[in-house]
Amino acid sequence: MMLPFVKSILPFLETFTLKPNPQEQQITVPKTPLLVRSLLRAGSISADQDRLVLTVTVPVEKRPGLKFFVVVREEGVAAVIEGMAIAGYAIGAKNGYFYVRAEYPIAVRRLRLAIKQLEEAGLLGDNIFGTDFSFRCHLRLGAGAFVCGEETALLNSIEGKRGMPRPRPPFPAVKGLWQKPTIVNNVETLACVPYIMREGAAEFAKHGTEKSKGTKVFALGGKVNNVGLVEVPMGTTLRELIYDIGGGIPNGKKFKAIQTGGPSGGCLTADDLDALIDFDNLIAKGSMMGSGGAIVMDEDNCMVDVAKFYMEFICDESCGKCSPCRIGTKRMLEILTKITKGQATLEDLDKLTALAENIKNDSLCALGQTAPNPILSTLAHFKDEYMAHIVDKKCPAHVCKSLMQYHIDKEKCIGCGLCERQCPVNAISKTDYVAPGHKLPSRVIDQSKCIKCGMCMAGCKFKAISKQ
Ligand SMILES: Cc1cc2nc3c(=O)[nH]c(=O)nc-3n(C[C@H](O)[C@H](O)[C@H](O)COP(=O)(O)O)c2cc1C
Ligand code: SF4
Ligand code: SF4
Ligand code: SF4
Repeated sequence: MMLPFVKSILPFLETFTLKPNPQEQQITVPKTPLLVRSLLRAGSISADQDRLVLTVTVPVEKRPGLKFFVVVREEGVAAVIEGMAIAGYAIGAKNGYFYVRAEYPIAVRRLRLAIKQLEEAGLLGDNIFGTDFSFRCHLRLGAGAFVCGEETALLNSIEGKRGMPRPRPPFPAVKGLWQKPTIVNNVETLACVPYIMREGAAEFAKHGTEKSKGTKVFALGGKVNNVGLVEVPMGTTLRELIYDIGGGIPNGKKFKAIQTGGPSGGCLTADDLDALIDFDNLIAKGSMMGSGGAIVMDEDNCMVDVAKFYMEFICDESCGKCSPCRIGTKRMLEILTKITKGQATLEDLDKLTALAENIKNDSLCALGQTAPNPILSTLAHFKDEYMAHIVDKKCPAHVCKSLMQYHIDKEKCIGCGLCERQCPVNAISKTDYVAPGHKLPSRVIDQSKCIKCGMCMAGCKFKAISKQ
C-alpha cells in the first residue's frame, strides 16, 4: 500500500469535532498535524474575525539535502489544495495562500492550473458544494531566501515587505498576515489531510510510534547506495533507512553519521542506528526531523568540514536583523575555517562553544536559534576530530586541504608518467629512483606547487598515490 504523506507533529492522535455546518451533520476530523496546532491556536481567536489559512511550500532548493518539497508541490498539488480547503473549513478561514519559490516554474504552473480547474469545477471559490462555505486559494512567489520559510518572515514576504522575521508575540495565530489571525502549515502536512479525512484517524494511526503517527518522507542522500525520496512509517530505525532502503554505504566504506533536519539539525552516529525515527527520538538525540533531509556520511567525511559547510549556508542566509545571528554566525564560520586550516587554538574551540550557546539562546528567530546545531552535535560526537585539527594539525579524514598532502609511494610507482601529464600545475616530476621490478623512474610531488586537486590520485591505476 502506498502510505500517505504524513507528518505527525503531535505526540498523539485524537479526534475533535468541527462546528457543524448548518447543512451538515457534525463532522469528526482526526486531530492531525494540520489541524492540530493551527486549531489549538485558532481556538483563542474570536469567531467573528476573518481568518486566513496559509501554507508554506517554500523556497529552498539550495538548502542542503532537500528536494522533496518539489515532489509534493509538483505531483501532489491537488492533495495539498484539498488539505488547505479542509483546514480553511475547520478554522473558518476564507483564504489560503501558497508561498512558492519563483524558480520552481513547474510547481507554480501546476498550482495555478489546479486552482483554476478547481474553481471552474466549483470546488474552490464561493459557496462550495452549494454550502455557505467559501474558500479561495492564492499564489505568492518568493525569491528563494531560506529565512522566508520562517513563518513571520514568510508573512512579511507575502505582504510585499522584506523577508525578515517579526518579533513574537504577537504570534501569527493572533496577528498574522495583514494583522489577521493566520496559521502556517507545510505542504507535507496539508497533503496528508485528505487521506486522513477519507480513511479515518484509526487507519492513519496504524503507522508510527506511540507519539508520532503516520509516515515521514525523507530525502535520503549522501554516501548511500540508493539516494532519493523515501516514505517510511514513523518508528522505522535509522539502520533500516540507511541499509535496507538506502542499500548501505557505497564501496564497502564505514558509516560515520547521518545528518537529519538539514542546516538546523544535527548528526546521529553509529550508536543511534537502532533508534526509532520519530519526532521526539530525534530531538532527544540532538537532531530533528525538520523537513526530512537525511544526509549519510562515511569514514571519508570530515565532521569539522561538515559543520563548516552548514555554517557557510547559514551565514549566507542569515537575514541580518539581529546581531547574535548576523555577527555570531560569521564569527563561528571564521573559527571553523581556522580549525580546518590548522590555525586554531584550544581557546578558539572554547570561544566556538560559547558562541554556539549564545546564538542558540539569543537569536530572534529559529534560523539563528538552530544555526549552531551542526556545530554542537559534531562537537558532542566527534570532538576527537576537532582536537586532531587543532592539536595535531591533522585532518583524520584527509578532507581539509590545508592539512593534507598527496604522496607517491616510490615502491608502487611504475613510472608510467600519467600523473605527471595530468597535473594542472606541473607539480609532479621524475626521480632518479626505479623501483625493483620496474623499468621507469618513479615520480615525486613538489608540495610547494601542489594545489591538491586530486587528479593524480584519481588517475593512477597502480594505487601509488595516497592522501596523508
Ligand atoms: C529558517 C526556516 C526555514 C523554514 N523553511 C521551511 C520550508 O522550506 N518549508 C516549510 O514547510 N516549512 C519551513 N519552515 C517551518 C515553517 O516556518 C513552519 O513552522 C512549518 O511550515 C509549519 O508547518 P507544520 O506545522 O505543518 O509542520 C522553516 C522554518 C525556519 C525557521
Ligand atoms: S536569527 Fe538570523 S535570520 Fe533570524 S532574525 Fe536574526 S538575523 Fe534574521
Ligand atoms: S600515475 Fe601512478 S604509477 Fe604512474 S607515474 Fe604517477 S604515481 Fe607512478
Ligand atoms: S593533487 Fe593535483 S596539483 Fe597536486 S600533484 Fe596531484 S595533480 Fe598535481
